[in-house]
Amino acid sequence: MRPLLLAALLTTAATAVAAQTVIQAPFDPAPPPVSLPNLSLAQSPAAPPGGDEQYQPSVGQPGKDVIWVPTPDGLVTAMLTVAAVTKDDYVVDLGSGDGKIAIAAGKQFGARAHGIEYNPDLVALARRAAARAGVANRVTFAQGDIFKSDFTRATVVTLYLLPNLNLKLKPILLAMKPGTRIVSHAFNMGEWQPDRTIRTDDATGYYWVVPAKAEGRWAFEIGGDRFTARLSQQYQMLTSDGAFRDGKMTGTAITLTRTDGRILEGQLTGDTITGGGWQAKRVN
Ligand SMILES: C[S@@+](CC[C@H](N)C(=O)[O-])C[C@H]1O[C@@H](n2cnc3c(N)ncnc32)[C@H](O)[C@@H]1O
Repeated sequence: MRPLLLAALLTTAATAVAAQTVIQAPFDPAPPPVSLPNLSLAQSPAAPPGGDEQYQPSVGQPGKDVIWVPTPDGLVTAMLTVAAVTKDDYVVDLGSGDGKIAIAAGKQFGARAHGIEYNPDLVALARRAAARAGVANRVTFAQGDIFKSDFTRATVVTLYLLPNLNLKLKPILLAMKPGTRIVSHAFNMGEWQPDRTIRTDDATGYYWVVPAKAEGRWAFEIGGDRFTARLSQQYQMLTSDGAFRDGKMTGTAITLTRTDGRILEGQLTGDTITGGGWQAKRVN
């Protein structure tokens, strides 16, 4: 399916069934129970009865706030690659559908992952797929509303929703721990410019790193040079009252360009910025 068509599908009202194509889950159809890799997991209370033979979602089927359309495999891998997901991450997919992003995070990147999905049939489908993929020990799914769920422990958040839903989530995402990575399929965050844009043959994604708060007046000490400067912050972008040409936060990493072109790089922790041979203290 082409990206424009996907976007068109998603911008259709959630009640509209935009496509009748019945698709297979992106994972193999359920094998007979005897050949399941982990029968006990597949039959545990976490995996409700019923099998893929009884429930297959249809692309474009209604969802609570947005229809179900799966992210293409190539973009799933690209999104998790750009976010540099490792085994130390906890990836949360908001509106996890058939579970493919969370399962890929667990299987291809070794991460712990969690999907939040409103449709209980999709949750059950995703749990069966995770069991078949052999990652049910580190990839979980919960039935719930993303707007009523706490996902603040995530180190990486993925989403494929709608522009207005992204904007509704934006303040929640910006309040997450600095350094949290966010990757959205197809839709941006309005004025919060992406740190990177991801393009595959058939889809586009956007990547942000939650910026630390650098707003305020800072006392700089750079070699023998001491001065104060006010930093103003718009999302990850920084401007100053004269000392710096521009600046940027990438999580807790700060880059400031002096008016003479020299670049300062440092790490912001609380009210201190520490760089190689320079530092700054927030004074208000
Ligand atoms: C476009 S699909 C994306 C599925 C998956 N994240 C992916 O990229 O393949 C959006 C999913 O969000 C789910 N959804 C819609 N509104 C939701 C809500 N308020 N809370 C949780 N899930 C929701 C839909 O049921 C659907 O499965």
